[in-house]
Order: sequence, then structure tokens, then C-alpha cells
Amino acid sequence: MKRLAHVGSLTRIGVAKIGAMLVVCVWSVGTPMAVSAQEGTAETKPRKKAVERSRETVKMLDNIFKQTIVLVTDKYVHDEDDFAAGSAAVLLFKNISEAGENKVRLIDATGDPYEAANVAKDDFEKKGIKKLKAGAPGYEEIVTQDGKPVLRALTPVPVVMQKCVMCHAHYADAKEGEPIGAISYTVPIE
Ligand code: HEC
Repeated sequence: MKRLAHVGSLTRIGVAKIGAMLVVCVWSVGTPMAVSAQEGTAETKPRKKAVERSRETVKMLDNIFKQTIVLVTDKYVHDEDDFAAGSAAVLLFKNISEAGENKVRLIDATGDPYEAANVAKDDFEKKGIKKLKAGAPGYEEIVTQDGKPVLRALTPVPVVMQKCVMCHAHYADAKEGEPIGAISYTVPIE
């Protein structure tokens, strides 16, 4: 328990007790998203502030990406042969994921993707899609990957404009506000 070194003067309280306090502290992390499952050992559980920073990163990226997709669709996509914002997003996300620590994917939530590869791949994404479809505003998990804590987050993509239906005809069947897709993030917690 290296992280307890700084509380050396508090040894009277007892290491076990502090350990318990730390665990409570981590488990009580506020969850703006609907559900939060926790994994990892006490040693790998990240600090509350670090988790909050990763959530802010997800929020910022999500805002930029969604605004961009809508703007590109609005201004540049006029017919089915134009380069779709969906295609742009898939390519952009692939390049971003390969270039750095933040991983991001655009996936389908309807069961009928344009491109077979754009589907929920692992348990986190499959579970998250179910939660989003059931009305959750988002889904997240804190997990350990390669010994390091990461925040995984899934945010919903609704049919934001009529033009989306031009290429994804079945989006017309979606209820108001129902997610037809999701953006899947994996962001380091540092
Ligand atoms: C011009 C046609 C076109 C328009 C308009 C369009 N898309 Fe797409 N979309 C595509 C194509 C093509 C792909 C597959 C891209 C790839 O994998 O390279 C795709 C992929 C997607 C995906 C990933 C899942 C899948 O089906 O492969 C989502 C989610 C998505 N689009 C949502 C939207 C939304 C929301 C809008 C409206 C803002 C929109 N699309 C508008 C053509 C379009």
C-alpha cells in the first residue's frame, strides 16, 4: 500500500482503518452517468480527482465529436454519394486511437449497422448498449488495462437530424431520442 506513505503520522488510526477509508472514498465517486461498475484491486483503484479529470476529458471529446458530426452533415453532406460524417467519424476515431492514449469508436445500437465492424465488441460495449437503449444517459466502468486504471464510457448517439435517415433508412423507425448508436471511449485515469 505505497499510497499510504504520506499518512505516516497517522499510524495511530491504524493502516486497516485508513485502507477501509480509502476504499469507501473510491467507491463513493460521484457518477454523473447512470451506472458505474468498479473493478481492480485496492492498489489499482484510482483517486477520485483523477477519475473526475478523465470524465471531463470524455465530456469534452464527446461534445467536440458530436458538434463536428452534425456540422459536417449539415454543411457538406447533400446526397447519398457524399462522404458521410459517419465515415469521417469512423476514420477520425481510428486515427485518434492509433495516435495516442485515448481510444474511441463509433458503434451501432440498432442491430443493423452500415458497416459490420461498427458494432459492440466486448462485454463493456454490449452491456452499455443495452443500458443506453433502456434509457440511461450514459454508461461507464472503471477497469484496469495492462495494469493501469482506465475509464470506459459509452455515450448515446440519437437521430439528431432528418438527413441521417437518407443513408440509414431504418433510423426512421427510431423513437424520439432513442439512441441508434453510441460513441465508446477508453481514457486513461492519471
Ligand atoms: C451520406 C450517407 C450518410 C449519412 C447522411 C449519415 N451516415 Fe452514418 N454512416 C454512413 C456510412 C457509410 C457509415 C459506415 C462508415 C464506415 O464504417 O466507414 C456510417 C456509420 C454510422 C454509424 C456507425 C454504425 C454503422 O451503422 O456502421 C453511426 C452510429 C452513424 N453512422 C450515425 C449517423 C448519424 C447520427 C447521422 C446523422 C447525423 C448519419 N449517420 C448520417 C453513412 C451516412
